[in-house]
Amino acid sequence: MHTIEEYREEFIAYLDSKKITKEPRNLYEPITYILGLGGKRLRPILVLMTAEIFKADFKKALDAAVAVEVFHNFSLVHDDIMDDAPVRRGQTTVHEKWDINTGILSGDAMLIMAYQLFENYEPNVFRDLAKLFSKTALEVCEGQQYDVDFETRDDVMLPEYLKMIEYKTAVLVAAALKMGAIVAGASDIAQEQMYNFGLNLGIAFQLQDDYLDVFGDPETFGKQVGGDIIENKKTYLYLKALKSGSEVMTKELEHLYSIQPKETEAKIRAVRSIFEKTEADKATKSAISDYTTKAFGVLTDMDVEEENKDLLREFGKNLMNRTV
Ligand code: IPE
Ligand code: IPE
Ligand code: MG
Ligand code: MG
Ligand code: MG
Repeated sequence: MHTIEEYREEFIAYLDSKKITKEPRNLYEPITYILGLGGKRLRPILVLMTAEIFKADFKKALDAAVAVEVFHNFSLVHDDIMDDAPVRRGQTTVHEKWDINTGILSGDAMLIMAYQLFENYEPNVFRDLAKLFSKTALEVCEGQQYDVDFETRDDVMLPEYLKMIEYKTAVLVAAALKMGAIVAGASDIAQEQMYNFGLNLGIAFQLQDDYLDVFGDPETFGKQVGGDIIENKKTYLYLKALKSGSEVMTKELEHLYSIQPKETEAKIRAVRSIFEKTEADKATKSAISDYTTKAFGVLTDMDVEEENKDLLREFGKNLMNRTV
């Protein structure tokens, strides 16, 4: 086995070797741009790690790892259009640096390129990967649509929110783990266990993303802090605050989420303060910890060497404590 950092380095070297510079430039340059902005590379690391946990050479999983990362970056390019986000990984978003049409088409091309990478696998593995990928990609679209629908709804319930983040985020984390298992030829049971581990970890991951969107350090977060508040996103923080706040606070929060001020700083400050006063921040932190623990619970039952479980636990703990 390798360390998390070694998997990251191996992945980046392989990704760089696949760089494309061809015409039309306005289609391919944004792709090289977004993929080159870095990011944590969590999903490809999971693909490689899982392949090796099930005794395959991680190199066999590199194309699947690139496919997952390219798909993830495609979803970010389109997500930033949908969320009207100015900054990604500390740099200008694709649709702001170029324009919205460029973001749409370069994103589409990335989705297709992700699929193409599965062609490098033998027919049985190709079929399993493509099947999982199609199901996952469609669920991500469903999750993204719910996320946008919720912006203008004022009756969103916690279970709906949890389903939404499961779809928009957790299924891809789960699929990354399962892909590593597929490439390594692991049993169906092992594949499903890895998927379930990833699903719980992915939910914790999105909860942490929501938390950092409000309480992250603008210097290091790499995205616009307060972006979810500006867009009236119905996050765990928001739903918990509505549930546990006094009537006055609830009314104030609902009011803040019904306005679209030109100057957004005051709104962000007011909402953040309500999240703190209602202890929605603490509730979110404890939900992050609960879902991570649940993920670790899935690991307990798995027929995998203890030191490999430790590596997955280390990965999960890093996610929980991240600031980016
Ligand atoms: C951002 O994903 C989108 C979410 C699902 C929250 P990451 O936080 O993994 O983004 P990068 O790839 O590290 O930039
Ligand atoms: C993103 O959710 C999920 C997908 C990209 C599919 P967010 O909108 O919270 O992600 P960030 O915060 O912009 O990275
Ligand atoms: Mg977004
Ligand atoms: Mg979004
Ligand atoms: Mg977010």
